[in-house]
Amino acid sequence: MATLISPSLLSADFLNLQKDIDMINNSEADWLHLDVMDGVFVPNISFGFPVIEAVAKTCKKPLDVHFMITAPERYIKQTAKTGAMMMNVHFEACTHLNRTIHEIHEAGMKAGVTLNPSTPVCLLEDVIKDVDMVLIMSVNPGFGGQAFIENTIDKVKRLRRLIEESGSKALIEVDGGVQSQTAPRLVEAGVDVLVSGSYIFKSKDPAATIHDLKQL
Ligand code: DX5
Ligand code: ZN
Repeated sequence: MATLISPSLLSADFLNLQKDIDMINNSEADWLHLDVMDGVFVPNISFGFPVIEAVAKTCKKPLDVHFMITAPERYIKQTAKTGAMMMNVHFEACTHLNRTIHEIHEAGMKAGVTLNPSTPVCLLEDVIKDVDMVLIMSVNPGFGGQAFIENTIDKVKRLRRLIEESGSKALIEVDGGVQSQTAPRLVEAGVDVLVSGSYIFKSKDPAATIHDLKQL
């Protein structure tokens, strides 16, 4: 399967979102990644539903929403109403993860579970068959443009093994510091979906950068 690309809107031009979404719509991007931060779970605040709803109206690509908030189960129905395809919740933010995954499915979305860099893959043993995707953070969440944490490569390999051994169909997505040096190594380690923010949006020709990432 070709690598899927999910550009992160966090690095887009917020005064000209329509322009960046047009670029995404006309590019080979597979999804659009939306980062919701609450200033509690992570030390930053980004955007919430007014922005997701506006983006959903104009974006032709499936929305891959990454909630960096405490108790994200409070917003499952509201997220489903936007038409989002994937709702990613952090393992560290969910007390009853099994219930949350099922509620996301009942609301008609795919369910992703996200791991912070310090959370080991083995903690997913009992949910791996229920999730559609595991999102591995390759930076500490909260900001775009941070340096890639090297240990992620080994972590992706461990997750690939867990998925194969369990018979799960979960995709592996990686988020943070994905650029020309790290992307090929991640794909080789077994990643299905690459999130990339600053590398795409700060490049001279973002659509060409998306094209190049897709070739991996
Ligand atoms: C970070 C966010 C990322 C961010 C990635 O907390 O989850 O999606 O936009 O940005 P880059 O690709 O610049 O590291
Ligand atoms: Zn993200």
